[in-house]
Amino acid sequence: MLLFNTQNELTAHLNSVSNESTAIGFVPTMGALHKGHLSLLEESLKNNQINVISIFVNPTQFNNAEDLAKYPKTLVEDMAKIKTVSDDIIVFAPSVDDIYEGNTVSKHFDFDGLENQMEGKFRLGHFNGVATIVKRLFEIVKPTNAYFGEKDFQQVQIVKKLVEKLKIKVNVTSCPIYRESNGLAMSSRNERLTNKEREKAAIIYKTILEAKKRFVSKSAKEVTEFVQREFIKQPDFELEYFQIAEEVTLLPCIRKSPHKKYRAFIAVFVNKIRLIDTISLN
Ligand code: PAF
Repeated sequence: MLLFNTQNELTAHLNSVSNESTAIGFVPTMGALHKGHLSLLEESLKNNQINVISIFVNPTQFNNAEDLAKYPKTLVEDMAKIKTVSDDIIVFAPSVDDIYEGNTVSKHFDFDGLENQMEGKFRLGHFNGVATIVKRLFEIVKPTNAYFGEKDFQQVQIVKKLVEKLKIKVNVTSCPIYRESNGLAMSSRNERLTNKEREKAAIIYKTILEAKKRFVSKSAKEVTEFVQREFIKQPDFELEYFQIAEEVTLLPCIRKSPHKKYRAFIAVFVNKIRLIDTISLN
């Protein structure tokens, strides 16, 4: 397994082992890897000759300094986990300076309104930060295929829009959510939960599953009110938002249309730790 800490070293290596017809698979991450990330690597290995994973906690996508400071940094453990998938994976773990060259700011993007919903509304500037780093990483790695987890469904839509608008030559694939045995969506932030909180956080998936059942016969408003009532009963949890949105535009569902695909999105705080989840509704 090869580890590169600078873009120059990575670029020199990729130039020496690939040509224009080499398929490069890429999994961008912020580390603290879990089975969900490893499943993205497995998908990449199936379809590409060279496989790269980046581990970089991107400061410009955090709108909360405490969240950034407390984000788990576990490179040694991450490397060991990657090795369980394959030895033949290139790890790119650059420093903030190497990536941002002394100017740690986001560029500004227009994603036709996708950026103003949900995560974009509650984490101001978040998607400009995500797009800035994803664009930069795509320029460095020049992947043929890039893999993202569906838990961050809005992020996947944003990355697809970025690729479309900037005409970047990469196929973006989203892979299914991995869940713990109690249903909690796997996330690097789960590391920060106590065992008890982790156990109790099963309520998030349980509630959106119930929301899915109710959406068959109830309106989006009624389902939303049900979810809000469920979380009022949970003093350890603070519901930031629950939204039923149309999958393509991410606009809130006001009146159901039989021709549209809908999805529920939720963000919940457990003792200042922010967890998100999503489920397809039809
Ligand atoms: O999903 C993540 O872990 C991050 O947002 C990403 C895509 C690696 C960009 O920093």
